[in-house]
Amino acid sequence: MRQAATAFAPASVGNVAVGFDVLGHSFQAIGDRVSARRTSQPGVTISDITGTVVDLPREPERNTAGMAVLCMVRDLKLDFGIDLTIHKGIPLGSGLGGSAASAVAAVVAANALLPEPLGKLELLKFAMKGEAVASGSVHADNIAPSLYGGLVLTVGIDNPNVKQIPVPSTVRCVLVHPHMMLSTREAREILNRSIDLSDVIWQSANLAGFLTGCFTGDLQLIRESLEDVIIEPQRQVLIPGFKAVKEGAMSNGALGCSISGAGPTVFAWCEQQHAERIRDAMVAGFATRNLASDAWISTLDPAGARILE
Ligand code: HSE
Repeated sequence: MRQAATAFAPASVGNVAVGFDVLGHSFQAIGDRVSARRTSQPGVTISDITGTVVDLPREPERNTAGMAVLCMVRDLKLDFGIDLTIHKGIPLGSGLGGSAASAVAAVVAANALLPEPLGKLELLKFAMKGEAVASGSVHADNIAPSLYGGLVLTVGIDNPNVKQIPVPSTVRCVLVHPHMMLSTREAREILNRSIDLSDVIWQSANLAGFLTGCFTGDLQLIRESLEDVIIEPQRQVLIPGFKAVKEGAMSNGALGCSISGAGPTVFAWCEQQHAERIRDAMVAGFATRNLASDAWISTLDPAGARILE
């Protein structure tokens, strides 16, 4: 029986502009790492938190990784306990799915200690309960891509259907994270509860067009559809320089550019040959508002959370 295991879970871009709360993709360049160790005392403990964020609650019920594994331990009525150590690679309040990645890495590491390991769909449900601690609502657009990898659509909450969507191999994602924090709760609370019918129609067409473009490798259709007409117009005021960043990406050949999750990170999809120019233009956009930023370029390979040997 395995006594300890360490798992890595990648960051993720929630919503991908057109699929609020249902679509997301993993981003391999950064992620969180969680080690799980069997203990004789039943329950869950968190013995250490290191990395980009250390000031997180250590009570399992108030920590996304802790809560996810606590739900697992309780549900499975395990006769042993699990101690977690969390290494954060994803900045706090960045819109890069940090709380989801910790919850996913935690359940994947804990799963390796079980006499009969669970399948991904069961792990997804535990991780979703963990992430609800941070965002105040249950949605899988960061959890599912971090766990499964690649571009992932999740339909349903209680019995989620998870589908990995193919992405044309020349597409890259550019992520630019300005050095500021945004709370997901806050970015959700500002959203209007009612939406104009014309916007719903437009966004539905964009989601359908975007997914069809991905399935058929039609970059022109992706370019025409990768536009959020509902959430981005409401949230962009929370991100200084957003317009300059988007303009920089689009004028340098991006297929689309929008807010990653709840922000403030901004992502752009583009063809490989434009990626570095777009990254530089986006960084320059934030600089117009005196914001320094970190930037990454990644493929959209379908590689999700995994045990590190
Ligand atoms: N879909 C979520 C949002 C992602 O945009 O609020 C952040 O948890």
